[in-house]
Amino acid sequence: MTLLITHGTIVTATDLYRGDVFIEGEKITTIGTALAMQADRVIDATGKYLLPGGVDVHTHLDMPFGGTTSADDFESGTIAAAHGGTTTIVDFAIQYKGQTLHHAWETWAKKAAGKAAIDYGFHMIITDLSDQVEQEMDALVRQGITSFKLFMAYPGVFMLDDASIFQALLRTGTNGGTICMHAENGGVIDVLVKRALAEGKTAPKYHALTRPARAEAEATHRAIALAEMADVPIYIVHLSAAEALEMVAEARDRGLPAFAETCPQYLFLSYDNYEEPGFEGARYVMSPPLRPKETQDRLWRGLAFNDLQAISTDHCPFCMKEQKTIGVGDFSKIPNGAPGIETRMSLVYDGGVRPGRISLNRFVELTATSPAKIFGLFPRKGTIAPGSDADIVVFDPEKKVRLAAKTLHMRVDYNPYEGREVTGAADIVVSRGRVIVDGGTFTGRAGGGSFLKRSTR
Ligand code: URP
Ligand code: ZN
Ligand code: ZN
Repeated sequence: MTLLITHGTIVTATDLYRGDVFIEGEKITTIGTALAMQADRVIDATGKYLLPGGVDVHTHLDMPFGGTTSADDFESGTIAAAHGGTTTIVDFAIQYKGQTLHHAWETWAKKAAGKAAIDYGFHMIITDLSDQVEQEMDALVRQGITSFKLFMAYPGVFMLDDASIFQALLRTGTNGGTICMHAENGGVIDVLVKRALAEGKTAPKYHALTRPARAEAEATHRAIALAEMADVPIYIVHLSAAEALEMVAEARDRGLPAFAETCPQYLFLSYDNYEEPGFEGARYVMSPPLRPKETQDRLWRGLAFNDLQAISTDHCPFCMKEQKTIGVGDFSKIPNGAPGIETRMSLVYDGGVRPGRISLNRFVELTATSPAKIFGLFPRKGTIAPGSDADIVVFDPEKKVRLAAKTLHMRVDYNPYEGREVTGAADIVVSRGRVIVDGGTFTGRAGGGSFLKRSTR
């Protein structure tokens, strides 16, 4: 199959120019002006941007968590991602206590096989570190699972102690992997949660009030210090607090390889959402929690000046019905997480590029190029260049979309941005040379996505 996309404005992390893109099979082969090739299909992209397919390096599909399972599986979640202009995800496999990493990988590989509609890789969550598990880390890196998530929160479930974290960091110094850190002080949070519940404070807003920004900042500082002592890079996931951002900025100013992502929910929602009436605040229960509205400007500045290097979604949807309601009468039982895999590109374009908070190039860098580089996918993913995978979004900068759970494709009964109008959306989405979304219709197939063997840094 050949595909010719003509008259688009090609946008990469560094360039912006009018041109045509010729695709043969799964790869981009030629970029130029007025290309004369014959193609099986020609797409006229006049007035549209041609963006590299979005790379979302933080998703939780079909994940057992908080006594239930995230509502999107690899089929519904990746189809929703495609509608939103994301063509690559890196999802989290989980090693439960007593299990091998290999078992976790097999389990997640089965979840994705025959279902994923876009390409996918895995990070490995380590909850139980031993000599044998450290050897398995090396094997996984060789097999293309080159990053590991560790938790400083959720004691008794996911949390690792500092010694284990340090050991794992040291191991990445020799195997070339990257540690991704959930940085919140789980011990302190546990005490605050128990105290709040004992005082009869059970509403969703207490989720946020028992997870202070300082608990995130302290853990972020500690994680970076541990990485500094191990002499390895570190990547902080879902950074939400201005105080935590200060820790990353300070480390980067000292020349340390500290990296961090934030997520659209921290840029567009705030603590005020927890004050919505009744149990509605449960929609926004996620960890770290939403922060005061003033934080948003700090995060945008961090994104603009490269103290934050990526915007991912932390897509972890739970329906209000029968899932979030597990926590009626006890906020600590509300499953943590929210949907976002489909809305990332439009939200960030509308709220970031249109008001001039970030440039169009920076938008591409944050949503595709930089995550692809950090996680060993570049230049196969994250750019538009000859030899790269033909993952291209024909993006209409003037298309208006009203975000609503009913019309979006994520399998969840609410949307955190319900009713918000955004301008700028994917029109046509190409994944490895195949048109998988065409004017709002999914034309790909479940199982069309492939496992991505990622390289080391
Ligand atoms: O609340 C969240 N973030 N749920 C997903 C799990 C995690 O910690 O990323
Ligand atoms: Zn996390
Ligand atoms: Zn997450």
